[in-house]
Order: sequence, then structure tokens, then C-alpha cells
Amino acid sequence: MRATRRRMRIVLLGPPGAGKGTQGDRLADRCGVPKYATGDILRDAVRRHTPLGLEAKRYMDAGELVPDDVVVGLVDEALESPESRGGFILDGFPRTVVQAERLAALLEKKELQLESVVYFDVPEEELVRRLAGRRVCSACGAVYNVHSEPSRAGEACQACGGGLETRDDDKEETVRNRLRVYRESTEPLLDWYRGQPTALHELVAVGSVDEVYDSLLSVVGCS
Ligand code: AP5
Repeated sequence: MRATRRRMRIVLLGPPGAGKGTQGDRLADRCGVPKYATGDILRDAVRRHTPLGLEAKRYMDAGELVPDDVVVGLVDEALESPESRGGFILDGFPRTVVQAERLAALLEKKELQLESVVYFDVPEEELVRRLAGRRVCSACGAVYNVHSEPSRAGEACQACGGGLETRDDDKEETVRNRLRVYRESTEPLLDWYRGQPTALHELVAVGSVDEVYDSLLSVVGCS
């Protein structure tokens, strides 16, 4: 009997600052699958002043969710790309039950199955600490943290020398709203996925980045 190769198709779910992006990048590199982060796609559109970016910016600056139709369209487009055929990681999508239902419908149409959802569980005070300490390279997008993952080049990016900046939506007031929006709109997804056949892994995502990565690999290692 011929063994069928497993395709990694996973969703990383969790509150702002839980480490989805950090861990998703590592996993994508190791497993050779693309990571699609709706937040990154939207920020790129904002930087390029596209019509999508102009529409999204007012929601993002306020810490609100961008309308479902917009983000579902972005993911639909990403999943059409040939590189996603060997598997993919979705970071920060879905974030509402409507998005999850639309993702399920998209995948069904493509005759694909979501393999698992990984929920990053981090206490709120730690989320606030991580978001306040996050710095992002304005040139290459590398993510650092003044508390836990500082750049070895000080105020510059250790990878490319670019300047480090704080994300617009990491201001204290916006963070508070993002956490509220998370509790109201995204947390209900946990119960929704508990009622689905897709495996839901609940990861206690505290400890060092390496420790969390080891726990992540133990539940979704690449084949
Ligand atoms: P998005 O960019 O997705 O933001 P988020 O979900 O709020 O997540 P973050 O990027 O803040 O956190 P993360 O979990 O990736 O953590 P990270 O690894 O960076 O969305 C931004 C906005 O876009 C939304 O508010 C919304 O407006 C819009 N949007 C996006 N998707 C949408 C959707 N589907 N629907 C509607 N609107 C959407 O880590 C955070 C920091 O902690 C870093 O500094 C990192 O170095 C550090 N860190 C990571 N792991 C650890 C660790 N183990 N210990 C200590 N520090 C750590």
C-alpha cells in the first residue's frame, strides 16, 4: 500500500501577542510550507496605500476587526496559489465564527481538509507585557522583544540593520481594545472548533520561545 504524504494545513489561534507569528514563522521554515498571516497581508496593503490598505487602516488603528468579507477574500486568494498545495499555516485567521464557517466552505470546495487548530493560551498580563515590548524592523519585518528577544544590534535590526519601531496598534489603549475584541469575537471560536472534527490542540504558550516551539512541534511536527 502506498503511503499518502501528510499535508500540514493548520490554523494558529490565540489572543494578540500570544506568539502566533513568532512560532508560525519557525514552523513554516522548518516544514517548508507557506504561512499566511492576515495581519501581515493587511499591514503590507496599508504600507502600499492600496484601496484595501486604506479601508483596513481605520479598523486596525482602532484595534477592531476588518470586515469578514475582506479577510476571507484575502485567504481565498492565498489558498489559490500553487505554493499552498503542499500545505499551509494560517496565522490570525479565522478570527470570528463567520470566518471559520467560510474557511470550512472554501476548503470543502477545494476538497481539502484542515488538519488541526492550535490554540495559544497565554495569561493577559503576559500578553500586555509582550505587546508593550514588541519591536518590528521597518525594513525587513523581523520581530523582536525588548524583554525576551532583543536585537543583538541594539536599536537596529540584527538581520538587516533597519530601524526598529513599535507597531501602531501596540499602543496601550489600542491593545486594551484588541484584547476586548478578542474575548468577544475570537474566543468563541474555541467552542466552535470543539464541536468540529478538526483536532484542536490547546497549548500553554508561556516559557521561552524555544520551549513553546518544542511544545508546538510535539503536537504538529512536520512529517
Ligand atoms: P495581527 O497582526 O494578526 O495581530 P494579532 O492577532 O493581534 O497578533 P499579534 O501579531 O499582535 O501577536 P502574535 O500572536 O503574532 O505574537 P508575536 O509572535 O508577534 O492583526 C492585526 C490587526 O489586523 C487586527 O487587530 C485586525 O484589525 C486586523 N486583522 C488581522 N487578521 C484579521 C482577521 N482574520 N479578521 C479581521 N481583522 C483581522 O509575539 C508578540 C511579541 O511577543 C513579540 O515581540 C515576540 O518577540 C514576543 N514573544 C513571542 N513569543 C514569546 C515568548 N514565548 N515569550 C516571550 N515573548 C515572546
